[in-house]
Amino acid sequence: MLIAKNLSHSFDYLLFKDVDLEIHPKDKIAIVGTSGSGKSTLLHILSSFLKPKEGKVLYKNKEIYSLKEKELLKIRRYEFGIIFQFHYLFNTFTALENIQAAAILSGKEIDFNLLERLNIKDIINQNIQTLSGGQQQRVSIARVLTKKPKIIFADEPTGNLDKENANEVVDILFEYCENEAASLMTVTHDMEIAKKFDKVYVLKNKRLIPWE
Ligand SMILES: Nc1ncnc2c1ncn2[C@@H]1O[C@H](COP(=O)(O)OP(=O)(O)OP(=O)(O)O)[C@@H](O)[C@H]1O
Ligand SMILES: [Mg+2]
Repeated sequence: MLIAKNLSHSFDYLLFKDVDLEIHPKDKIAIVGTSGSGKSTLLHILSSFLKPKEGKVLYKNKEIYSLKEKELLKIRRYEFGIIFQFHYLFNTFTALENIQAAAILSGKEIDFNLLERLNIKDIINQNIQTLSGGQQQRVSIARVLTKKPKIIFADEPTGNLDKENANEVVDILFEYCENEAASLMTVTHDMEIAKKFDKVYVLKNKRLIPWE
């Protein structure tokens, strides 16, 4: 479904090179690596937000960085769901308004069961800026799942959460993928979390290699 070929990227120095990766429906993939190894950068490249210095990202056989702006926006809106490391929620709106915005933009319904499972029902009418980091993270997960994406790209989705909430979030994401035949590509530095995934890769010495 999504194929990355020969990706290389650098800012001031080379971050990684010759990265190959395939994401198929229902795949649950985790990428681990030390801080600064380029995990977020790789996720931004795969999710259409950053053109790599070299290489290609094919989604449904089309190179995403050669698409017309309109086609790219469509994919971002209807097919990709991105949970950023630093969420981009609308700070002056409530949690519910943020989720509603996603529902309206993608033409989908809000699943109130999901809000209950994410444990955010009680805080749904609070402004984002009054929520804790973990609550904000769970709101951003609710927002992404509301869009019903085909691929979820998640950057440290459990970074601000205690163990119990972290496990629940991962279970919710896995169930979503199973039910919707969607795939999940997660970046995490938490090995406990990574172990739950089908495939784990590590970004190390500027290469992406399978983790044993
Ligand atoms: N837009 C940018 N301009 C310049 N340098 C950047 C940019 N984005 C990232 N970098 C640099 O690239 C390197 C990798 O950053 P990245 O955020 O991908 O790491 P990471 O593996 O996600 O780290 P962490 O685990 O801390 O989130 C860092 O040294 C960072 O400073
Ligand atoms: Mg990062």
